[in-house]
Amino acid sequence: MEIFKQIAPLRAFLKDSKKSDGSIGLVPTMGALHNGHLTLIEASKSSNSLTVASIYVNPTQFNNPDDLRRYPKSLDRDVELLQMVGCDVVFCPDDTEMYASKSTINFDFGPLGEVMEGKFRPGHFNGVALVVSKLFNIIEPDFAYFGQKDWQQFAVINKLVDELKFNLRLQSVPIVREPSGLALSSRNFRLTAPQRQNASIFHSALQLAANQLTAGAELKQVKMAVRDLIEKTPEMRLQYFELANRKNLNIMERVEPSCDLILCIAGFAGEVRLIDNMFLD
Ligand code: PAJ
Repeated sequence: MEIFKQIAPLRAFLKDSKKSDGSIGLVPTMGALHNGHLTLIEASKSSNSLTVASIYVNPTQFNNPDDLRRYPKSLDRDVELLQMVGCDVVFCPDDTEMYASKSTINFDFGPLGEVMEGKFRPGHFNGVALVVSKLFNIIEPDFAYFGQKDWQQFAVINKLVDELKFNLRLQSVPIVREPSGLALSSRNFRLTAPQRQNASIFHSALQLAANQLTAGAELKQVKMAVRDLIEKTPEMRLQYFELANRKNLNIMERVEPSCDLILCIAGFAGEVRLIDNMFLD
């Protein structure tokens, strides 16, 4: 496995491998890797001749300085894991490599970037779009892999690729969960044992809501049931729970059978912010 901290040698290496026929798959991550990340690597490996994983805790996408400071970091372990699953290249730059000068570019994704994560984490998607654009330009992958776990991020990056004509295809990979239902997340490393147990309530709430809505319950009632369930669980707090159009993330007031829908939830386990979602089929 090749490891690069700098852009120029990575580009030189990739230029050589692009001369051969194969395709390049990119898996962007912020490290503190778990099995969710590793399924993205596996998805890339199964359809590309070369898989590049990036590990970079991107400061511009954190709206909360404490969240950035406490974001878990485990580069040595991450590199070992990537080696174990047969990743070909790791790109792990530092801030001066990625942001030699302060960026003044601003993306506006319209309503897509204003709801849910966009509303509660102002500037977040601007930072994501900035770093993902840089990664796309540095690596020029044929395919890039993202998790359904961050569905709104996937929708934003879809728009980015579409509007800026990045020459690549995006793939979304299903959410990997713990046996309790808790979606794997690097932030789970910060949970205490009881918080980790209690945090599976977010998944239970999604299941409850999906069952109730499928059985014809009113969204307003379902939202109340979800809030009750979360708020009565120790240390858990709900930030939002929404039914949205899966494509454009428009917030829905009721189930529209003609739309592909998604249930999205965000909240806190103690001080740790977690998100999860579920397609409503
Ligand atoms: P990070 O949170 O490290 O996630 C990297 C990728 O792993 C994302 O595409 C995310 O959706 C996916 N992922 C996370 N948890 C998952 C799970 N339980 N199952 C399946 N996939 C999962 O998302 C980011 O980093 C950053 O915003 C990034 C795109 C790297 C830009 O900085």
